[in-house]
Amino acid sequence: MEGASLVKYMKIKRILKWSARAILVALILTFLWGFIAYWRSTNDCDRKTGAPANPVKAIVHCEYGGPEVLTLADVEKPVPNDNQLLVKVRAASLNPLDLTIRGPWLIRPILGMRKPKDTRLGVDYAGTVEAVGKNVTQFKPGDEVFGGTNGALAEYLCVRPDRAVTLKPANMTFEQAAAVPVAAITALQGLRDKGKIKPGQKVLINGASGGVGTFAVQIAKSFGTEVTGVCSTRNLDMVRSIGADHVIDYTKEDFTKTDQRYDLIFDLVGNHSFSERRRILNPNGICVMAGAGGAGWHDGIVTALVGELNAYVGSWFVSQRFLAYISSFNKPDMAILGDLMRDGKMTPVIDKTYKLSDVQAALTYLETGHARGKVVITVD
Ligand SMILES: NC(=O)c1ccc[n+]([C@@H]2O[C@H](COP(=O)([O-])OP(=O)(O)OC[C@H]3O[C@@H](n4cnc5c(N)ncnc54)[C@H](OP(=O)(O)O)[C@@H]3O)[C@@H](O)[C@H]2O)c1
Repeated sequence: MEGASLVKYMKIKRILKWSARAILVALILTFLWGFIAYWRSTNDCDRKTGAPANPVKAIVHCEYGGPEVLTLADVEKPVPNDNQLLVKVRAASLNPLDLTIRGPWLIRPILGMRKPKDTRLGVDYAGTVEAVGKNVTQFKPGDEVFGGTNGALAEYLCVRPDRAVTLKPANMTFEQAAAVPVAAITALQGLRDKGKIKPGQKVLINGASGGVGTFAVQIAKSFGTEVTGVCSTRNLDMVRSIGADHVIDYTKEDFTKTDQRYDLIFDLVGNHSFSERRRILNPNGICVMAGAGGAGWHDGIVTALVGELNAYVGSWFVSQRFLAYISSFNKPDMAILGDLMRDGKMTPVIDKTYKLSDVQAALTYLETGHARGKVVITVD
């Protein structure tokens, strides 16, 4: 080998050698971190000693697993600080989010490697304010409220008034109000913020009969759009009854094979490819990829997520947009949802109601991926 080529060859060899070493060290460190994080992973269940002095009931899960790991336990009654409300929960509702009790490995670095860091479950609730901290001016004892906070499957909660909590409309029951927070805010933010929904548009909602879909149909109608809901045969009448102008039975017809064109697709299932959905979108249409079908970490979710990532990247090169998002709570949006219910523009669809002691059965039902509207828990 010539002198100059030899030097170049040696340089490349050195770079490759050091890169391989760096990758090996990174892999060893990641493995060590995972190993230590796994064995150090602990939660309240390991720390607790003795019975609570002032016990109230709450749903607790000390380990990862299916609904069978949930128990109705005695926990200490929470005491509000100066900036909190104490809410006596009257109803709560379930969301696919609650199925993270199964502890999918991909998100265990956040949830806790070996055991769930947060042993409490649930987000959506409605109830009565029992006491307020001395700095709280927006609410008073006796107010009926609904909102979202971690650990909502419990008899009592402490919540901050500046977070996602608002007055329950008088024309709604606690069960109805508890059905709203996560699902309706997901529908509102997806259609309005990502989908830029406008009056007169043609909107298609794939997964129109589920928790989010039943709110999406009603919210899209409240924006003055023409709505098509995609659902199965048994849900056609229900989806029509909440305002859909057209319905497509996914067991009989593929919505991507029709001649219709839409300005906005709100997709909660993600069971069609980028090109199939592009075909039925107008040239400047938007597809909001809100969900990946089913509930929780089900079979086929990885394929669906890869398909959605492909659609997101693919849409950089075409006129239509494909967008994904994670909804988040805020007070103004909670107030909008309250107003929609007060004005009779949005009424929650409740599929089944279970007692707090029957949460295992309720979550098992939600996990089938075929709930018709929301699954609600009553807390007495
Ligand atoms: N982006 C976010 O921030 C966010 C927030 C909340 C939820 N999500 C996601 O949104 C999705 C829906 O949530 P959800 O609470 O509405 O779930 P859900 O209540 O469990 O949805 C169940 C509904 O999906 C319908 N469905 C199942 N397969 C279908 C198909 N091939 N075509 C049309 N509809 C189908 C079912 O109808 P049939 O019984 O008739 O099949 C059922 O009514 C989930 O993937 C969830 O993880 C995302």
